[in-house]
Amino acid sequence: MEPKRFLITGGSQGIGAALTGLARAAGHAVVCTGRHEEPLAHVASATGAVGLVSDNSVPADNERTVEACRREMGGIDVLINNAASWYDAAIGELDMDAMRRLFDSNVFGMVDLTNRVVPLMKAQGWGDIVNLSSTSGTKGRKLGTAYAASKWAVRGITQCWQAELRPHSIRVVSICPSEVQTRWGGHEGRDNPNKLYAIDIAETIMAALAMHPRAFWPELSVFATNPWSEQ
Ligand SMILES: NC(=O)c1ccc[n+]([C@@H]2O[C@H](COP(=O)([O-])OP(=O)(O)OC[C@H]3O[C@@H](n4cnc5c(N)ncnc54)[C@H](OP(=O)(O)O)[C@@H]3O)[C@@H](O)[C@H]2O)c1
Repeated sequence: MEPKRFLITGGSQGIGAALTGLARAAGHAVVCTGRHEEPLAHVASATGAVGLVSDNSVPADNERTVEACRREMGGIDVLINNAASWYDAAIGELDMDAMRRLFDSNVFGMVDLTNRVVPLMKAQGWGDIVNLSSTSGTKGRKLGTAYAASKWAVRGITQCWQAELRPHSIRVVSICPSEVQTRWGGHEGRDNPNKLYAIDIAETIMAALAMHPRAFWPELSVFATNPWSEQ
């Protein structure tokens, strides 16, 4: 793949940080975002990416993010909508403000940022948009009202954007990982060699981007082959 200009939301840890590392190692320019300065600065200095403190649920931050991409890279070829948060609660005990905050990032923030990036992609006549959904966006589960609903929304929105943007040669892909051993949801220290790591998802995304521009994968699910193995 020739050098591209990547905007990766939530690049300070987990899947976004792994993808930032892979994209930089392959010679691409990267602006990556997160809400906290310190982990972002660490990823930026380790990879040479530009780290930008920006919250995707804040419209003014999204405006600033797109400006920074124009300033630092001259535009955006690849938008990775990765930033998201997590909230699980049983129906009957759900905190509606917490669910609204989750949707502000996982759904409305993703849409607001993409709404600002798509005019640039339409003008240049190409682009890739990768939306991080989840297997939680393919089947319901206990306690998943807020998070699973947001990830079903990501898959539905992805299909709408595919219908709108394919005629502009813009590819839109949703990625549906199963459990990935990041610090997601407050988890720490998971290191089971039979389960997915962030790098597995980053490699999947790079493989999708590497396809010839005439072809694209609309949706990719990623599972661990044998997560039950004791070895
Ligand atoms: N891990 C899994 O098992 C799994 C499975 C399926 C799908 N996914 C999806 O994969 C994506 C990445 O997950 P992950 O496991 O890598 O998560 P993670 O390790 O928790 O990393 C999330 C990243 O997003 C940033 N972030 C969170 N809210 C943000 C906001 N409002 N604005 C900007 N940045 C924000 C975080 O930094 P700050 O906190 O500093 O903002 C961090 O860099 C998410 O969309 C998630 O739903 C994860």
